[in-house]
Amino acid sequence: MTITAADVQAWNESLKDASPRQILEFAFDKFDNYAISFSGAEDVVLVDIAHRINKNVKVFTLDTGRLHVETYQYLETVRDHYGIGIEVMFPEPAAVESLVNEKGLFSFYREGHKECCGIRKVQPLKRKLSTLDAWVTGQRHDQSPTRSDVPVVQLDTGLAAPGQTLVKFNPLANWSSARVWNYIRTNEVPFNPLHERGFISIGCAPCTRPVLPNQHEREGRWWWEDATKKECGLHAINIHD
Ligand code: ADX
Ligand code: SF4
Repeated sequence: MTITAADVQAWNESLKDASPRQILEFAFDKFDNYAISFSGAEDVVLVDIAHRINKNVKVFTLDTGRLHVETYQYLETVRDHYGIGIEVMFPEPAAVESLVNEKGLFSFYREGHKECCGIRKVQPLKRKLSTLDAWVTGQRHDQSPTRSDVPVVQLDTGLAAPGQTLVKFNPLANWSSARVWNYIRTNEVPFNPLHERGFISIGCAPCTRPVLPNQHEREGRWWWEDATKKECGLHAINIHD
């Protein structure tokens, strides 16, 4: 199947007000070779909805080596709860070794997170995406200023390999955090225990902290950096000049 930018734009137009379930049904209908990218946070909602549609849903996670122990335990909880596999992608050992041996374990506080995220998240993600036709993320408009106009489906021109056509679905784009949490509670979806300790958005342990009441969730991520630059590269196409 040859997919053009015009096709994807038309899909986005027809799905822009659709529910996450309808968007996932559309994605599964169109693509066999897809996977859901699960971070181990409230994007579990995607896993839950997808699993109701397809018991063999394909899910992967990026293990940066720096996740909280609670997140590692939670990934196992999700695996057991749904009886699904979660493929774990690891960074290239040589690249991590050379970063850490040259710059230490916390270079991101001094130099920004781009290099470390590049090695620990973006490269493993690219390796996975190069094997897929489509991927599914839990991005939402209300998560960050950089995500306020994320479409429900788009061509991933940022991470596709040369010559590859890669489609990116963002079925939760129009859902607010409140709606996600309402779904989690109503459907008794298991959640990462860090959420009970003030964490809203969850990434790597050294780069995530709980937020205060009324602080935006993104303020708990890479808090030493500018809010308009808080994309680690997984969703770099969100950053416009
Ligand atoms: S990040 O780019 O800032 O780290 P965020 O934590 O908001 O992303 O999560 C948004 C979406 O990106 C998640 O719902 C998920 O689809 C994907 N994602 C982020 N981190 C990971 C991860 N470690 N493994 C797999 N997917 C991830
Ligand atoms: Fe490295 Fe922090 Fe990025 Fe994780 S979030 S990959 S520890 S810079």
